[in-house]
Amino acid sequence: MSVQTSDMVSDFAGRLLGWYDRAARALPWRIAPGSGGVPDPYRIWLSEVMLQQTTVAAVAGYFARFTDRWPTVADLAAADDADVMAAWAGLGYYARARNLLACARAVVAAHGGRFPDSEAGLRALPGIGDYTAASVAAIAFGRAAVVIDANIERVIARHRLIETPLPLAKREIRTALAPLVPADRPGDFAQALMDLGATICTPRSPACAICPVMADCRARGRPDIERLPVKPPKKAKPHRHGLAHWIERDGAIWLVRRPEKGMLGGMRALPGGEWTDAPRAESGIVSVDHGFTHFDLTLTLVRREPPPESSPESPPESPDAAAEGLWWPIAELDAAGLPTLYRKLTDKMLERDA
Ligand code: ADE
Repeated sequence: MSVQTSDMVSDFAGRLLGWYDRAARALPWRIAPGSGGVPDPYRIWLSEVMLQQTTVAAVAGYFARFTDRWPTVADLAAADDADVMAAWAGLGYYARARNLLACARAVVAAHGGRFPDSEAGLRALPGIGDYTAASVAAIAFGRAAVVIDANIERVIARHRLIETPLPLAKREIRTALAPLVPADRPGDFAQALMDLGATICTPRSPACAICPVMADCRARGRPDIERLPVKPPKKAKPHRHGLAHWIERDGAIWLVRRPEKGMLGGMRALPGGEWTDAPRAESGIVSVDHGFTHFDLTLTLVRREPPPESSPESPPESPDAAAEGLWWPIAELDAAGLPTLYRKLTDKMLERDA
């Protein structure tokens, strides 16, 4: 009897997968457990890149639009950069969209359009880091990779009562998790941990009473369970300031493409100068506050007169020059692919004018 109990308690993967078989979330890229379906590495890779730093709810629409428009990695590899950047607009972390294209093109150019099926092979592709290599290897190819995202970090830090602060705790979490990964269902195991973290072992008020691995959870019942994993002390974020120019002519505004390197690289934007540490003396029509990972920005919209037809800022004639700037009809701003920062500003401006 006691042997049976200890077996039951030690079978972490068995309990977790039993729960996943009943409770797995139905997600557009996911093969339902027990369905016998075969995962499409392209869809798995795309979803994993999109899901970094973002929630399932935020990604669902983007995933549907991308896979409708570019159903295979070869289709994506052949896409125009500008179309992909515009389709990504609003998801944030725009370097990921540039890397996404670089990766799709490398898969086509160097691997005949098939993703490498090992963690090391995936890791060698542009834009694929440790997390993406492990998650795609496990979910798409059934490799026993150790997948760790923020949800999994939380589940394991609690279950093992790891009180070391992040990021130092990552090593302990990996050491605790690696021996638990089952060779027969590593992809479902990773996704089960993600689902557990998203639905039961949530940051606030975890639902321990219905957790499939509560029997041996070392943090269960602790009043301070929400503290785990212990976060590093918060650094004060710098506050920066910038201007954006509203240049209007004949119902259109002048939009530019931001330089490839740097914040919002390659994205369509309103023109404007550098962002600086000092507040702007000029008072604007409207302004918005926006939080980036490493700083907060106040962006102020100021009106500028349109340049004379002959100036270099006039609508360019050649398609090449059009990549740098163009007149965009205000009535169609929704389709411009502006990142959230600029969308907030143009929305506010248009609300004010309405
Ligand atoms: N978050 C990141 N990848 C995920 C996946 N495959 N399923 C659920 N949540 C996720």
